Amino acid sequence: DKTELESLTACMNWVQLNQAVAECMACPLAKTRKNTVFGVGDQAASWLFIGEGPGAREDEIGEPFVGQAGKLLDSLLQAIHLDRHHDVYIANIVKCRPPGNRNPEATEAEKCRPYLLRQIALIQPKLIIALGKVAAGNLLNTHDSLASLRGRVHDFSGIPLIVTYHPAYLLRSMIDKAKAWEDLCFAQAFMQGIRHN
Ligand code: URA
Repeated sequence: DKTELESLTACMNWVQLNQAVAECMACPLAKTRKNTVFGVGDQAASWLFIGEGPGAREDEIGEPFVGQAGKLLDSLLQAIHLDRHHDVYIANIVKCRPPGNRNPEATEAEKCRPYLLRQIALIQPKLIIALGKVAAGNLLNTHDSLASLRGRVHDFSGIPLIVTYHPAYLLRSMIDKAKAWEDLCFAQAFMQGIRHN
């Protein structure tokens, strides 16, 4: 069954959706946020990257992945010739910062889900990249480990989805940085494959 918010957002254009997020009071994260963090990038992008939720810097600025993890994400994107403003769209599971950067609660993610679903419907990406265990777990409805989810193409309501490590985690793990690089190359090969078919 569709929730009330899901029925409402299903008809929204970008301006209306952005406004609805900016005014959202649907979960307790609204009380502690400074800014909502809607998303950034090309609204017709082929690639959609989905993170977990805003951190401190994102909460200040109102844009996803602008802190240290964001710099790493930008450099990973750059390595496969993608730019955050032109070639991809970047969004999060939750649009408001969880206090102290804790993981979003399942109920918070659920409340916020209609916004992400509408973003996906408007963008119609050819590929979704789930960044980290929280995003992957939410999108694929699983508790499986990130390691077990990597390296294959999943399905999100008809859209191919590939899982990789969260950039904030990669800042602490050199070994997994190499694996994330493999994942992006895998994603790029997948995209090239569908272009040639
Ligand atoms: N981590 C996330 O998951 N999302 C952001 O926007 C920033 C850091």
